[in-house]
Amino acid sequence: MQDPLIRITERPKPPRPEELTLRFSERAVKELEAILKHYPDRKSAMLPALWIAQREYGGHLTAEALAEVAYRLGRSYAEVEGVATFYTMYNKTPVGKYMLEVCTNLPCMLCGAYRILEYLEQKLGIKLGETTPDGLFTLTEVECLNNCGDAPVMQVGDVYYRRLTPEKIDEIIEYLRTHEEHTVVQLADAEVQLHLSEQERQQIEGTQG
Ligand code: FES
Repeated sequence: MQDPLIRITERPKPPRPEELTLRFSERAVKELEAILKHYPDRKSAMLPALWIAQREYGGHLTAEALAEVAYRLGRSYAEVEGVATFYTMYNKTPVGKYMLEVCTNLPCMLCGAYRILEYLEQKLGIKLGETTPDGLFTLTEVECLNNCGDAPVMQVGDVYYRRLTPEKIDEIIEYLRTHEEHTVVQLADAEVQLHLSEQERQQIEGTQG
């Protein structure tokens, strides 16, 4: 049984207002300003704001990241934390550079998802929910990835790997070790860009030296 992501006693404490350090980059501030124009009020931009924070804080949402989102949206810390902890796509604890998210829902399970998970555990020397000591890989299981016809399936960042076999897993791990693609931070950035129009992306790009 996988450990809960956060134990009550380990729940991060929000920084006091006077301790708040804003870490969003100039680009992130501009992205948030553009995204806010798409919504009737600031609260409605909570999800893209959390994606920006996940990218800006290196892949997971610290208490400081949640506090910054709360500050920038004019909401309470508790409200932002409530949203961030509701959705599994936001990481509340540190994760590796790559998240290996293996679907173990019924069709994938029947097609060998748990054999794939065990193979990954052996290959990486970690258990489900853990991160490799070099900080590269975090292994998790997820619910249906909506690709049941190509089971078993694993998501890594912004890509799905389908019809997995141990041989394919070897190739994928080798590829990820030698390329800067499909990282947790890149996925967060891709989600942010989805919330911007082409024109907004170009404008923001144009203002970055
Ligand atoms: S059950 Fe795995 S993609 Fe649907």
